[in-house]
Amino acid sequence: MQKDLKQQDLNMELIKVQQLVKKFDELVAVDDVSFSIGQGEVFGFLGPNGAGKTTTLSILSTLLKPTSGKAYVNGYDVENQKSQVRKSIGVVFQDPTLDEELTARENMDIHGRLYGMRNRREKIDELLKLVELENRKNQLVKQFSGGMKRRLEIARGLLHEPQILFLDEPTLGLDPQTRNHLWDYIRELNRRKGVTIILTTHYMDEAEKLSDRVAIIDHGKIIAMDTPKALKEQLGGSLIRIESPQSNKIYEKLDGLTWLNTKNPHNGYVDVTLKNAEQRVAEVIKLLNDVPIESVSLQIPTLEDVFLSYTGKTIREQEATAKDRIRQRQKASRR
Ligand SMILES: Nc1ncnc2c1ncn2[C@@H]1O[C@H](COP(=O)(O)OP(=O)(O)OP(=O)(O)O)[C@@H](O)[C@H]1O
Ligand SMILES: [Mg+2]
Repeated sequence: MQKDLKQQDLNMELIKVQQLVKKFDELVAVDDVSFSIGQGEVFGFLGPNGAGKTTTLSILSTLLKPTSGKAYVNGYDVENQKSQVRKSIGVVFQDPTLDEELTARENMDIHGRLYGMRNRREKIDELLKLVELENRKNQLVKQFSGGMKRRLEIARGLLHEPQILFLDEPTLGLDPQTRNHLWDYIRELNRRKGVTIILTTHYMDEAEKLSDRVAIIDHGKIIAMDTPKALKEQLGGSLIRIESPQSNKIYEKLDGLTWLNTKNPHNGYVDVTLKNAEQRVAEVIKLLNDVPIESVSLQIPTLEDVFLSYTGKTIREQEATAKDRIRQRQKASRR
């Protein structure tokens, strides 16, 4: 029942972006991007450093003016109806924006005042409870851990009860346990409060766990957009790797069978891709009854494989640059 409701809501477009372009002098940061997001959806932007994720979110949250194209948020034009757009959205920026010299409650209170909220106190308490910071509300933010700060920022983004929440790299630099914890909050917000969520991330697992749909963005362009499941299926299904001293023979035996898609034999192994491979390993092995086999392994594709197949970049490279960025940021904030 819950699911049907969500499916129905998805038909309503809450965000609509048409041929959006943003140039910084010569650099095209957002390059002819179009997409729609339905009410109640969690939509993930996945892409490497400099792909244009933050720039796109900045245009949607009225902080940057597009060079060309149109964007509507909650039916309002981001260029001509800024205040209505801003009332519809909550934003958690990539770079922390809390006042470290104030307490958690004071940070929330300033935000409530900016939005002209009366009777803020009750709502602030409710949200601090939601992110499990109610016992810390009078503590200075500079004494908070990274995860606590991120939770506070999410609570603050929700204070004026926006229908839409933008999360720019919600868990960058946090430890695995804190990330898992934050993912739970984000999912809860979407399920229980019906908040439509647009998030950006470098993390494949984050995009996959949270998003109903993912847009892979590289050099300002959306190069793929679908559900994580459909994106993975586009790779041609799961992969069975068969190691053998006679890999050529395996290739010959399997080549030409219409229901599977063999790749060239490598030195000592053959990769076989097929739909539902996990259920058909035995069938494949049977076809190879007189070929010596050393090992058989099964690899089910992840968004990581999808990302690599589209961008040609390894995740380790991405993470190295992300780490550099955090270090640079920490260095800058210490100055
Ligand atoms: N204010 C600006 N002036 C000039 N260039 C900019 C500006 N903001 C962003 N850019 C450039 O636009 C491109 C896209 O940047 P953006 O911040 O949108 O990327 P991103 O996908 O959010 O990257 P990251 O994962 O590192 O946060 C980059 O090449 C960046 O250097
Ligand atoms: Mg960014």
